[in-house]
Amino acid sequence: MKILNVHTLSKKYPIFIGNNILSKFHSLQGKFLKKTKKVLVVTSKNIPSKYTLELKRKITNAKVFSISLPDGERIKSDKYLFQITNILSKNNFSREDCLIALGGGVIGDLSGFAASIYKRGINFVQIPTTLLSQVDSSVGGKTGINNQFGKNLIGTFYQPSFVLIDSQTLKTLPYREMVAGFAEILKYALILDKKFFKWLEKNGEVILKRKNFKIIEQAIYQSCRHKAFVVKKDEKEKNIRAILNFGHTFAHALETVTNYSKTIIHGEAVLIGMVVASRLSNQLGYLPSVELKKIINLYNQLNLKFSYSKIVKNKNLKKVFTIMNNDKKSDGKNIKIILLKKIGSFIIKETTLKKSFIPLIEKDLKNGIY
Ligand SMILES: NC(=O)c1ccc[n+]([C@@H]2O[C@H](COP(=O)([O-])OP(=O)(O)OC[C@H]3O[C@@H](n4cnc5c(N)ncnc54)[C@H](O)[C@@H]3O)[C@@H](O)[C@H]2O)c1
Repeated sequence: MKILNVHTLSKKYPIFIGNNILSKFHSLQGKFLKKTKKVLVVTSKNIPSKYTLELKRKITNAKVFSISLPDGERIKSDKYLFQITNILSKNNFSREDCLIALGGGVIGDLSGFAASIYKRGINFVQIPTTLLSQVDSSVGGKTGINNQFGKNLIGTFYQPSFVLIDSQTLKTLPYREMVAGFAEILKYALILDKKFFKWLEKNGEVILKRKNFKIIEQAIYQSCRHKAFVVKKDEKEKNIRAILNFGHTFAHALETVTNYSKTIIHGEAVLIGMVVASRLSNQLGYLPSVELKKIINLYNQLNLKFSYSKIVKNKNLKKVFTIMNNDKKSDGKNIKIILLKKIGSFIIKETTLKKSFIPLIEKDLKNGIY
């Protein structure tokens, strides 16, 4: 089992990464949740019940409650938030008690938010079961729900007591979700770590096809290490944490015009967004063409899609640009974009959409290549 410590101003906590380590829960409970008398496990219908059963078996000296919510982004809502906090209230959970998120990023974000506001904060443990949540959303403490006006608009920064990443849970994950998680792994390599990029050139297929779980754990460890490094510097996204949004401005536009449906899932949109951002980096004179070619080659080698012509068309182009202009990195006029200087090295540029994305995307639509 590998251990990685996350240091933030508000809390220091460990991430445990390993194979079959759900079974270690009771020893971690003994160490980190000494005073916990009640535990609520929040999970969702698509998470195989064997994980919930295994976890429940390993919780000792505490009364265990559990709730299995419907699947999908729509449960990141006030309705399900209050469903969770009502269970906590009804059963008189104290601050020493604990809420465990067992599932993907949706369950993690919703449960983390509930844990942060119930009695102004109770113990919280993340047990992420998708690749995306293992390499990204379970680390760093962002929690939240959506409302009618947009995604993640209501939330908190709330760090867990610990994160337990059991690579075995990936065995049951649909391939599409593996690809989505891989997008975030690749993101860390592109913005921060050329050596890691080279390693992914060699091991990408092994990871995606789940051929070797030791390699997968290494990829998770490296990703969490990079995220922990950034979060330590800037827990509340005042500056440097924004680099984790590389590729996300265009990605969010793709997700929004498709109404966050299964047409395109977050990681797939990020894959497309990262190629657009890399091409933009090249056109603006930063990323050398040979490096851009290496990125495209990796996509081709791993059969990762970067074409967006099925989603962005002339008829919704204006809408796409409006969404990008409303991005959190934009003040409505100028936008901060994350570009690559080379593979493994980023640059943050303040510019306008007109001087950056618009010409590139308009040209793409005209040429019909992407
Ligand atoms: N807090 C953050 O910093 C942060 C960062 C990135 C993304 N997010 C959020 O994460 C969410 C996306 O998370 P996600 O990609 O994990 O999606 P998800 O939570 O919707 O999970 C994807 C699908 O996989 C299923 N699943 C989960 N684990 C499984 C397993 N082991 N076996 C079989 N099926 C399994 C789920 O039921 C779901 O159908 C979004 O809401 C996004 O906003 C948050």
